Amino acid sequence: MNPNKALWEKGDFTEIAATMRESGEAVVKSLGIKTPMRVLDLGCGDGTTAVPLARLGADVVGIDIARNLVDAGNKRAAAAGLKRLTFQEGDACNLQGVGDHSFDLTLSVFGAMFAPKPFDVAREMVRVTKPGGRIVMGNWIPNDSTSFVSMLLKISSSFMPPPPEGFVSPMTWGVESHIVERFGQAGVPKENISMVRDTFYFTSPKSPVDMIESFRRFYGPTMNAYEAAEKNGKVEELHKQLLELAKEHNKRTDGGTSIPATFLRVAVNRQ
Ligand SMILES: C[S@@+](CC[C@H](N)C(=O)[O-])C[C@H]1O[C@@H](n2cnc3c(N)ncnc32)[C@H](O)[C@@H]1O
Repeated sequence: MNPNKALWEKGDFTEIAATMRESGEAVVKSLGIKTPMRVLDLGCGDGTTAVPLARLGADVVGIDIARNLVDAGNKRAAAAGLKRLTFQEGDACNLQGVGDHSFDLTLSVFGAMFAPKPFDVAREMVRVTKPGGRIVMGNWIPNDSTSFVSMLLKISSSFMPPPPEGFVSPMTWGVESHIVERFGQAGVPKENISMVRDTFYFTSPKSPVDMIESFRRFYGPTMNAYEAAEKNGKVEELHKQLLELAKEHNKRTDGGTSIPATFLRVAVNRQ
């Protein structure tokens, strides 16, 4: 089994995605969607951005490596009566079956950054985007204390055994020089790439404690960290660090959760 696929099928990202809907919609609203536009949402999960894209009238294909999320996305599309939105299984490293120059916009919000071969991912995103089209990515920023998920992943990985040799951290997609190098190899000059810091919110009527419980039960990278910590008697320490993180970042005072998380928003003009 492909370990990248196994990681994301292990949990149930729909449980985390439920806290991301408002920001997903906000990102989509800022994209200037006009009909008829063909959009690829890569690493789409169950449609946090794909569903609002389709609601704005775009023709949307969501591609994700996790079968369970593709199924969940197709159910959401059917329930919402969105006939021009389809979800299918695929790997951002190799979008076989997807034609060259198929999309006006290729979007990937915290999705393609998790694929293991970043140079292949950049090449594939450029290949399937039409000349004159756009690629937009949302990527977590490494070692940024305002980037909640980045911090959560950092804590989680500190309880894990070292990754296999050759492993490229997904967080490198939050570093300007890597982005320029990857798209550069795919033929995009530096001046066609822009990057700004933006904020995503994780919101829930439930408490930050419940939020961490959801990550523990449903988010593959955190599930793996708890399993590793259990083996060497460090679960309590991991849990304590994650709870502190969530409480420290939470902006709500009514028992609910609203955690802002800085991310790098990358826009590529594909010529
Ligand atoms: C953090 S979730 C984000 C999901 C969605 N974009 C959202 O905002 O709700 C990361 C997603 O990337 C997907 N993913 C990871 N590696 C992938 C790959 N190689 N190809 C396609 N999707 C991938 C996962 O299955 C998961 O759905």
